[in-house]
Amino acid sequence: MATTYTLVTGASNGIGRGMAEECAARGRNVLLVALPEPKLDEVTDALKAQYPEQSFHSLGVNLMDRETPQHIFDWCKENDYTVDILVNNAGLGNSGPFSNLPADFYYGQMQLNMMALVSLTHHFLPMLEAQPRAYILNVASMAAFYDIPFKGIYSASKKFVYSFSRSLNKELENSSVRITVLCPASVPTNPDVVQREKELGLMAKLTSQTPAQVAKYTLDMMFKGKPVVIPGFFPRLYKRLGSVVPYNTRLRILAKQFIKNSK
Ligand SMILES: NC(=O)c1ccc[n+]([C@@H]2O[C@H](COP(=O)([O-])OP(=O)(O)OC[C@H]3O[C@@H](n4cnc5c(N)ncnc54)[C@H](OP(=O)(O)O)[C@@H]3O)[C@@H](O)[C@H]2O)c1
Repeated sequence: MATTYTLVTGASNGIGRGMAEECAARGRNVLLVALPEPKLDEVTDALKAQYPEQSFHSLGVNLMDRETPQHIFDWCKENDYTVDILVNNAGLGNSGPFSNLPADFYYGQMQLNMMALVSLTHHFLPMLEAQPRAYILNVASMAAFYDIPFKGIYSASKKFVYSFSRSLNKELENSSVRITVLCPASVPTNPDVVQREKELGLMAKLTSQTPAQVAKYTLDMMFKGKPVVIPGFFPRLYKRLGSVVPYNTRLRILAKQFIKNSK
């Protein structure tokens, strides 16, 4: 059987790292893509040491650059890496008044959260369709289900990921490719999220999941062909309760929650 790989963006930390580690634990070969920081090599080397029979390769690139998805695809072609699972995970969050940050920040955020994901999907789709079974896992967020004051561009970008993933999954229903969109609640990954969890208090504590928990549950669901995955009982309950709260009340609650941790 041909050697195939899972390609994970944002694989050097957090949920992406959890995905890379969980895939490795399931016997898969992994291509790790993230910013060109020493952490990327450290994570890749640790996987190589732990699973010497499997293949792990890394590429340090900035997905805010428009040409990067093409570069990643060329790297795979040149090295004969056949991808049968694409995990579009890399993304950037923030919260605070819209005008506090320069427009360039939002441009980069939209490029990373949406454009890079679309472009990677577009580049890799023919390779994925050529496999007997292939998957795309797009990482959105629970934020995809709400309009969130003080987090407006982020939540809009995740709504985009959610909508695009569900539409394309239907479009590809007669192909070998399944698309799953992951909508996690709070996952303590980087210092910003850890700080936000502290400030959001009990609600964040109840809905919080570790990257390893998210990765394991999500991959189980993805292989079952689930189009939408919300890891954790409390996040699923929270979403259900949220849908019965009147829109303006919900907007007020979310505005209060997020204005506190403006950054
Ligand atoms: N954590 C949460 O609570 C949460 C909740 C819902 C959804 N999500 C979503 O889950 C995904 C992962 O979040 P996370 O919290 O795990 O993130 P994280 O811990 O901050 O890690 C982000 C990963 O992406 C890489 N990365 C960042 N900017 C990049 C760029 N411009 N080009 C290439 N790679 C880049 C980072 O590399 P470096 O380590 O070198 O920076 C790192 O590997 C995101 O899409 C996020 O929106 C997170």
